[in-house]
Amino acid sequence: MEQLFTDIFFVRDETKFLDAFRSNIGRLKNKYKRALAFTIMNRALTRKVTMGHFAHTQALVYASNPDRIKRNRSLIRPIKDIFSELVSEYNNAVFDNGCECVSYNDDILKVLPTLSNVDLVYFDPPYCDSHADYQGFYHLLETYTNYWKDKEFVNGTKRYSPKKESGFETKREIIGSFKKLFSLSQDIPYWLISYNDRSYPDIQTLVDLISPYRNVSVERKLYQTGRGGKGSVAGSNEILLVCKP
Ligand SMILES: C[S@@+](CC[C@H](N)C(=O)[O-])C[C@H]1O[C@@H](n2cnc3c(N)ncnc32)[C@H](O)[C@@H]1O
Repeated sequence: MEQLFTDIFFVRDETKFLDAFRSNIGRLKNKYKRALAFTIMNRALTRKVTMGHFAHTQALVYASNPDRIKRNRSLIRPIKDIFSELVSEYNNAVFDNGCECVSYNDDILKVLPTLSNVDLVYFDPPYCDSHADYQGFYHLLETYTNYWKDKEFVNGTKRYSPKKESGFETKREIIGSFKKLFSLSQDIPYWLISYNDRSYPDIQTLVDLISPYRNVSVERKLYQTGRGGKGSVAGSNEILLVCKP
């Protein structure tokens, strides 16, 4: 963190702290505590940086702008304080639902064929054409968590390279990817899919792609004041496609 990100997103004292903290996470014996530490630190880092993402190089400029500080005091708070404040909130969100829970971090088109006996699936894909480049936006969090030893770091933001394949980011590939997604979900009775009506393809096209497999209804919620995160521009609609047998 010190070598890559000093004076891009954080000052040197903070990047040094982050490196020390990262190595101490590995010393926690309990794997759930390690997971919580990563999760909470990821959240603290998005709080600390203007706009909550890492695709710009204005973090330190904005962190010295009084108007922005007034709107978001986290910009000048030590990362350690933001982290400490979040710990109890995240701890309180941990509970035992009595089931064996599993999470995967992989390409959905690879994971789906390995699953069986699924009752319901919720897909929350990138919003193609409005907010789709997750690697560009959140590379720092992934770099911090994985502590890559085998990547190159490019551009002003030091995004890692090569580009990770998504299939859901570009207009060129997204329709083909949705077709594969729906075809691979045929054995799952219920599907819920989030989208936005400013994104590509339009909602009618999605309905047409789903219709061969499921009865689909469209729920809409209008964004009154959104400023753009994840496609939430004022006047656009957040869409939930409810797909039943
Ligand atoms: C709108 S976000 C989902 C946010 C999530 N529901 C949450 O609340 O944190 C879209 C996510 O899809 C991921 N993604 C993109 N292509 C993917 C693929 N082929 N397989 C699985 N995930 C993918 C992105 O990295 C991003 O994290």
